[in-house]
Amino acid sequence: MAKLVINPDKKLSKINKEIYGHFSEHLGRCIYEGIYVGEDSPIPNKKGMRTDVVEALKKIKVPVLRWPGGCFADEYHWMDGVGPKEGRKKMINTNWGGVVEDNSFGTHEFFELCEQLGCEAYINGNLGSGTVQEMSEWVEYMTFDGISPMADWRAKNGHEKPWKVKFFGVGNENWGCGGNMNPDYYANEYRRYQTYVRNYNEDEPIYKICCGPNVDDYEWTEGVLKTCFSHCEEKYHGFMDGLSLHYYVHPEGWDIKGSATDFDEKTWYKTLFKALYMEELIVRHGNLMDQYDPDKKLGMIVDEWGTWYTVEPGTNPGFLYQQNTIRDALVAGVTLNIFNKHSDRVKMANLAQIVNVLQAVILTEGADMILTPTYHVFDMYKAHQDAMLLDSFVESHEIGADDEYCVPNLSESVSMDAEGAIHLTLANLSATESYPIESIIFDFKVKEAVGEIVTGEMHDKNTFENPECVKVQKFTDVTVTDEGVNFTIPACSVLHLTIR
Ligand code: AHR
Repeated sequence: MAKLVINPDKKLSKINKEIYGHFSEHLGRCIYEGIYVGEDSPIPNKKGMRTDVVEALKKIKVPVLRWPGGCFADEYHWMDGVGPKEGRKKMINTNWGGVVEDNSFGTHEFFELCEQLGCEAYINGNLGSGTVQEMSEWVEYMTFDGISPMADWRAKNGHEKPWKVKFFGVGNENWGCGGNMNPDYYANEYRRYQTYVRNYNEDEPIYKICCGPNVDDYEWTEGVLKTCFSHCEEKYHGFMDGLSLHYYVHPEGWDIKGSATDFDEKTWYKTLFKALYMEELIVRHGNLMDQYDPDKKLGMIVDEWGTWYTVEPGTNPGFLYQQNTIRDALVAGVTLNIFNKHSDRVKMANLAQIVNVLQAVILTEGADMILTPTYHVFDMYKAHQDAMLLDSFVESHEIGADDEYCVPNLSESVSMDAEGAIHLTLANLSATESYPIESIIFDFKVKEAVGEIVTGEMHDKNTFENPECVKVQKFTDVTVTDEGVNFTIPACSVLHLTIR
């Protein structure tokens, strides 16, 4: 029996609900078709937003949504996407398939979506190809409550009251698609652009996010922090609140990537091995951040993460449409456990991307919609949102198909919610073995334990023909003991226990 130890008296950090955030880009069928179908569509919608998708997303309590990109953000000119739709400019989506972007989904539509979802807005500004004035005026348009050219224009376009922009990204991947800058150049640009991201509402200051590294580019982190911190020193709150990190799991590397559905046991472990690398990235970038910010006020914002496979056969390569299996459920489970465990530094994370792109939680085909295995993990893990991380430990050992890609057999994180219930999420990374678990919860008399699980054969997935192959199932085989709870976790599983 593997021992799992929980200490409810040791509350380590708050798990910000934004760790369960999402990302929506003008890419493939994410926004158009996936979310926005327009008011005249035969697909049921409210103000153009698909009702089925919005209802499903409300169920997993999407706390925050990032928009409009990604690479798209640094080529997006927001003024093209406001005002009467017939007058909106059509442009080429150069990053994603060269398709026509008709700008029918713009700022007003995005805030309408956030309102329907009940989530916070995370806007990503254009530093790569936009001007300081353009960025500054966007912020004025969205948030200024008074008489000004931009506030007046917003009112003329149908929204008199300002919106709340909780998070604002000053550029995206400016080391790559956002302008191919070096760290020093970007950091100086950041200093300039962010100056004009004004806080018009003192009570709700905008949380400003600086473009951080790609994967293990520690030089970028170091360079950006050096240039920005030498300027802001103690007063960085309001100057720079977060630093982003992007990391994707490509089982066979960036060039080949690998199939989403056709993989062997070795690739199963290789994928999970690569997913677990997130922890090293957080620790090492976090160590650099500690040198400048030992009190951990600066948030690490993992605003793009997830699996990135070869696109589904027969689909547009620029649309990044991929299927989602139990393997993705495991990637989500272990990654979210890592974020929870590092919630003293990780303040937000945004899965890429919300619908029809990369590790999506929802796939659509015309009027039909399916929920992916990843969706069901987010559904179970929503219990951690804004809960307190508890000190915990699970005994594990290494497993794998060969010596190269060994992973621990188990991954856990535990939190306590505002009502005092304990939430344990545990992933079994083994493709074949189940494991009995004996838990010990210090100074806690268990009255009841309610379980739910996402499990199956490693290739299991939902399709439009069989949409409920993978779903959240009740998990009842739990024994309450004097010390905690005992149970056996099956192979290829992500489990959630609520313990009271
Ligand atoms: O999520 C897809 C793309 O991946 C984003 O547009 C970009 O920021 C990253 O390279």
